[in-house]
Amino acid sequence: MIAPVSPKTLELAISLLKAGELLGLPTETVYGLGADASNPEAVQKIFTAKGRPADHPLIVHIASKKALTNWAKDIPEAAYKLADAFWPGPLTLILKRSSLVPDIVTGGQDTVGLRVPSHPVALAVLEAFKGGIAAPSANRFGRISPTTARHVQEELGTNVQLILDGGACEVGLESTIVDLSTAKARVLRPGGISVEALSKVLGYEPELKTKTDIRASGTLDSHYAPQTPSLLVKEIPEGLSDAGVIARRPSPDKGLVWLELSNPATTYAQELYAALRQLDSLGLKQIYIEDVPDSADWLAVRDRLKRATFKETT
Ligand code: TXA
Ligand code: MG
Repeated sequence: MIAPVSPKTLELAISLLKAGELLGLPTETVYGLGADASNPEAVQKIFTAKGRPADHPLIVHIASKKALTNWAKDIPEAAYKLADAFWPGPLTLILKRSSLVPDIVTGGQDTVGLRVPSHPVALAVLEAFKGGIAAPSANRFGRISPTTARHVQEELGTNVQLILDGGACEVGLESTIVDLSTAKARVLRPGGISVEALSKVLGYEPELKTKTDIRASGTLDSHYAPQTPSLLVKEIPEGLSDAGVIARRPSPDKGLVWLELSNPATTYAQELYAALRQLDSLGLKQIYIEDVPDSADWLAVRDRLKRATFKETT
């Protein structure tokens, strides 16, 4: 059930979480599928609903940085600096986990991902719940992340009793993930917080390490992918039929399903997943996405476009 946010539906959301049930909830990045992070049986339901392999760790959402010490230990100074600068907001910190974090949340790893989201509905739920909420993006494993409540319903159907409707997500792409569990910060996933902004706070440029030996589903080559074969191209070919196009300019040819997304990168990011989802629903033979600039401000968008169009070559 999709429900608008009201004191009544917030109360229902909290009672579902306390009862070990799932909750669809908006964040500023994408919608999450939440469960009580301290309840292993509740967290197991996330894996079942998503069809996600058990060794892929989840992000624990917390109400404020004050809760950091509940979930993490040996917290470096850099974590507090980044939290002060970017929380609430689209930044996930990977830290050494505390003994409170159930194994199922971290896929057995000795680190945990933590984030304070800035969406007012997510914050209201976290403040009222008074605990951590484990929440991956509310899509089936490997599919496009949802940026509206309706997308969550399409992805998960009756597997989630309540989806709080917080409107379309403002960022539209998943959070930036920064690993602080080793001496030097590393960016595991580019996102809403740029590497440049991170560098200013850290005092050095973190290494970009989007492919790691750490099991992170957002770091698989193919992820965030439509089911329709999709290609990233320098130029949209002539004479297409039965194809959809995503480009940053209006259609020269009215015969095609052509979705025009807007500059700058932040606006394009807001619109991208809904556009991919729309084209994917049309049963087209092919989706063509016109390449985006090579500059730093487009890094997170480029990362998602590469994954959405990745093909196994072997
Ligand atoms: O914006 C977001 O981060 C959204 C919203 C709902 O908060 N969440 C999200 O969750 O994108 P998910 O599970 O779809 O992606 C989280 C990524 C995964 O690639 C996961 O493997 C990685 O974070 N991750 C979580 N804990 C980790 C850890 N301890 N070490 C390395 N990667 C971790
Ligand atoms: Mg995801």
